[in-house]
Amino acid sequence: MSYCAIILAAGKGHRYSKTVPKQYTLFDNELIINYSIKIFSEISSIKKIILVINKQQFKKFKNQVYKNKKITIIQGGKERKDSVFLALSKLKRSNYKKVLIHDAARPFLKKKLVNKIIKFSKKNEAVIPCISNTDTIVFKNKILDRKKVLSIQTPQCFSYKKIFFLHEEYKNKKFSDESSLFFYKNLAVKKILGDHNNIKITIKNDIIHDKKISYGIGYDIHKLEKNYKLYLGGIYIPYSMGTVGHSDGDPVIHALIDSLLGSKKLGDIGTLFPNNKKFKNKRSTIFLKEIINLLKIKSIKINNIDINIIAQQPNLKKYKKIISNNLSKICNISEKQISVKGKTTDRLGNIGKNKAIACEVITSVSNN
Ligand code: CTP
Ligand code: MG
Repeated sequence: MSYCAIILAAGKGHRYSKTVPKQYTLFDNELIINYSIKIFSEISSIKKIILVINKQQFKKFKNQVYKNKKITIIQGGKERKDSVFLALSKLKRSNYKKVLIHDAARPFLKKKLVNKIIKFSKKNEAVIPCISNTDTIVFKNKILDRKKVLSIQTPQCFSYKKIFFLHEEYKNKKFSDESSLFFYKNLAVKKILGDHNNIKITIKNDIIHDKKISYGIGYDIHKLEKNYKLYLGGIYIPYSMGTVGHSDGDPVIHALIDSLLGSKKLGDIGTLFPNNKKFKNKRSTIFLKEIINLLKIKSIKINNIDINIIAQQPNLKKYKKIISNNLSKICNISEKQISVKGKTTDRLGNIGKNKAIACEVITSVSNN
């Protein structure tokens, strides 16, 4: 049987935010809309995907939205039901027996659920995923039996012809999903168990619940020599020697950058700022500012930074607070979120013989 998936992404998402539509916000470093595109693209019985968007919104995010040869993009309508009807009308002349209709605002959909729906759709005209409620439900001061009150999710699967005719028949009625049309007409609907994680992002809190924390590690070491300046964490430290490096050789900032990049698999400092002319003798604070900007664009928030500066000399006691203050300003976080610790190696090894200074950093980040 041939399936077409309709992904609805033309809404304004006003209850979520008045600025960025929810389907184009980032969750775990990925646009919300991309999660659904990925799932439907990977299911082989789904031969076509109609992605319903609002062109005005789409312009800004076009380059970040996944592409796939199955996808046809169309302009949506005023209400959700109008967007669905436009997509169904687009399929009039094709031969798809079944359509799966899904809200792009449900990024936690799993392939397993889609496959289950597809399986049941072979023998049923309408298949809908439902979950029971766990809260007490009151309607006009009467307590309803919460076990019998169902929340209906998407994707919902229908015989194409049936759902198209129902949409035409109920053109002037308000409804929030396609299963409503079957219920109005008292038609048979196959209810299957949905997934409690398959929530529809509606308000800001919906995503905060699923905030994912990740961690990154960074390490750097630079040779100490006479006639060089010493910068640690962007602060000039008066000392008889300084670090040798292609830039200003600040091991603290270099290790910090690598830990930030590592926390979200964004590469490493050597790839982003190679040892070429452009970066020769540059202050490392410039690189850090660029990385902080990158995190901002990707809605990545720093939770905390833990730094070990490993140096036999100079003694860093009086600089630790100045360094954490400076880094907190560059990273746009509070000083409470940065810890700077100093360490010697008990005169052991190259660091102990004052031939080098090293630094290790661990950071924790999450999505806004
Ligand atoms: N949708 C759509 N076309 C519309 C309205 C909604 O394609 N005219 C889509 C949304 O993008 C969303 C899904 O339908 O993926 C479910 O709608 P809803 O959660 O109500 O999203 P919005 O309408 O965008 O949000 P709000 O009602 O808060 O403005
Ligand atoms: Mg809406």
